[in-house]
Amino acid sequence: MLNYSFKNLVHLLESKNEEHLNLRKKANQLTEKIFGKKVFLRGIIEFSNICRKDCLYCGIRKSNKNLVRYFIKKEDIKEIIKNSYQDGFRTIVLQSGEVEIFDRDITEIIEFTRKNFDMAITLSLGERKRKVYEEWKKAGADRYLLRIETTNRELFKRLHPDDDFDNRLRSLLYLKELGYETGTGVMIGLPGQTYEDLAKDILFFKIYDFDMLGVGPFLPSFETPLKNEKKPDFELVLNFLALLRLITGNTNIPATTSMATLDKKGREKALNSGANVIMLNYTPAQYRHMYQLYDEKICLREDEKNTFKLTENVVRRAGKILVDEKGDRVKL
Ligand code: 5AD
Repeated sequence: MLNYSFKNLVHLLESKNEEHLNLRKKANQLTEKIFGKKVFLRGIIEFSNICRKDCLYCGIRKSNKNLVRYFIKKEDIKEIIKNSYQDGFRTIVLQSGEVEIFDRDITEIIEFTRKNFDMAITLSLGERKRKVYEEWKKAGADRYLLRIETTNRELFKRLHPDDDFDNRLRSLLYLKELGYETGTGVMIGLPGQTYEDLAKDILFFKIYDFDMLGVGPFLPSFETPLKNEKKPDFELVLNFLALLRLITGNTNIPATTSMATLDKKGREKALNSGANVIMLNYTPAQYRHMYQLYDEKICLREDEKNTFKLTENVVRRAGKILVDEKGDRVKL
């Protein structure tokens, strides 16, 4: 039995070589005990890069004037969702920069999807008033992703000139209260972040019992004030993932694009260290280069079909099986 005291969490986050491999192995064993070899697939549609916020790390922040801003029209989004269903997706994630102008369109898109396709609808649209979350839930949305980014309040403040930590947390609690499967997450390796901060992040996820945990390395973006900061070691990302699995048990944890950007085999390694979900970029290829949250994001020039093949290969190489299930949080 591992010792998960705060002190030991910090120690395990720093672990290297043998101890590091052992941690990943244990996390994979637990993952397979819960999910078998199954990996859930999610398709993500980044339908707009328009954003009212100025988060210091993010490539589509408001102050980035060297970016063509786009949005995909609602009828086109409906068409993309229809295609994704026909391609076998049973979960679609709608993501955009944070703005309110599309709120009514989102409601309509959710209703359309709910009526026509048997698929889970996940939203990733930032902070909103409770009543907007409520409207989307009533329209038929199932899940919501809203990262806390870091639970170190000081660091949160420094990185988010427009945001308030308590408000972010309140939004997460509203989402839970409204019956969404709720996901959150942090970036690993943020400038000024410590191992202690990361250990506290993991305990935060455990205490609030979130359903989904999307985490990834911080990666500098050349259009931001953090462009000269360092990326973390991939080993740290894997240690964090493994501990997430070992501590939170049955949560859904994706292998993310940012992991593959930091390490060529990043997603394979993640799927063998605790992750049980893979997110595929289903944004039409023509828009992808305008949705670069960080530099060297992968799959920028792929078409949608090719991305699917590449994703299948990643899962196969990890020795796992891609399944077309909705992939709700499993009950233990
Ligand atoms: N590096 C890594 N992840 C980033 N995100 C935004 N910018 C970066 C970056 N520079 C992540 C944030 C956000 C998610 C959509 O993308 O965690 O919540």
